[in-house]
Amino acid sequence: MEYRIKDINLAEIGRKKTEWACREMKVLGLLRKEDEKSLNGLKIGCCLHITSETSNFVITLKKAGAKVFLCASNPLSTQDDVAAYLVKEHKIEVFGKKGESEKEYYENLKYVMEKKPDLVVDDGGDLITNLHKNPSFSENVIGATEETTTGVIRLENLSKQKLLQFPVIAVNNAHTKYLFDNRYGTGQSTVDGFLRATNILISGKIVVVCGYGWCGKGVAKRFSGMGARVIVTEVNPVRALEAVMDGFWVMKIKEAAKIGDIFITTTGNRDVIGIDEILKMKDGAILANSGHFNVEIDVKNLEKICKKKNKIRDFIEEYLLPNGKRVYLLGEGRLLNLACAEGHPSSVMDMSFSNQFLSLKYLKDKRLPPDVYNVPEEIDRKVAELKLKTLGIKIDKLSKVQKEYLSSWKIGT
Ligand code: ADE
Repeated sequence: MEYRIKDINLAEIGRKKTEWACREMKVLGLLRKEDEKSLNGLKIGCCLHITSETSNFVITLKKAGAKVFLCASNPLSTQDDVAAYLVKEHKIEVFGKKGESEKEYYENLKYVMEKKPDLVVDDGGDLITNLHKNPSFSENVIGATEETTTGVIRLENLSKQKLLQFPVIAVNNAHTKYLFDNRYGTGQSTVDGFLRATNILISGKIVVVCGYGWCGKGVAKRFSGMGARVIVTEVNPVRALEAVMDGFWVMKIKEAAKIGDIFITTTGNRDVIGIDEILKMKDGAILANSGHFNVEIDVKNLEKICKKKNKIRDFIEEYLLPNGKRVYLLGEGRLLNLACAEGHPSSVMDMSFSNQFLSLKYLKDKRLPPDVYNVPEEIDRKVAELKLKTLGIKIDKLSKVQKEYLSSWKIGT
């Protein structure tokens, strides 16, 4: 058995963390219990944030009969104790450690690719795109699933260029994923990461949220709930209008740059906060990113132009700018919620990973041609129904008359 982790002796802490998360992941628990070795004999390559929630997911895959290989989907998001637990107790091959170099990150990805997986689970698209660059490793792939907005965009581009080699289910696009994981998950875990890194008062601060997709909506709402005065920047006119009518200030980043105390990017795009904006900022401005990749803030050029760099405490770097002002960067500009905290809460990851599990079974059964697919509606609905059930919430049902009314066109005023 192969693995590459920080320290196997951390396994006991990883076990306790996994069990704690499991209490909030009851839908996945039900699916695990009712499963009858549906993935028996399949090799599943996963590139995911190695957290206690992912731990529960890969254990579910293993219990369903799969052989699982897991690498990190970000160099800073691995929980080393969880990695140790999966290796020691579950004999799952894990490749990742918190703070790994970019070289190690890609080596770990390669370890998983070399196993020639039958199914692939990705978060951000690195595993799937690298399998496309190395087709000798992808010959067994029946299909893949993708967890996040950024990954889905990359794979749709691959598909548009007619280069996609196998079917991919965009788990991100399920209602029971993005409405909860992206919005409430990113919202809460971004505040969590910010507070663990800085421990400063949010109330009264001017917080600039770049991007008003589902993640940005969640971040803006939660910082606002903590008493911040929130500004939103957007490029999409509909989303900008939504932000206005949700009660936020909306303006261009170059204007917001002069006013903000705290900046959080959630766009999925690059160079959202560039050097021009950073030079306009107030002395002491704090910068952080909650998007998937570390390209939203121009950290490379910030490193180049700064006069001095100084580590203040874990996950806070101070940059002295040529104009004499200082800015503070959290978690190297990598995704704040996982670099500085523990990622989304288990209860939302419960729904995301249940969609993942059911989508993998679907891919195995259907053998689809290469394309990017949405999660089938019956899966999305099943996850919502089970989540309500596990929360002890009952809802009404349509009567026969109501069903007829909704399917007719004759009855008007
Ligand atoms: N992405 C965001 N939060 C996560 C978590 N807790 N586990 C796995 N992936 C995540």
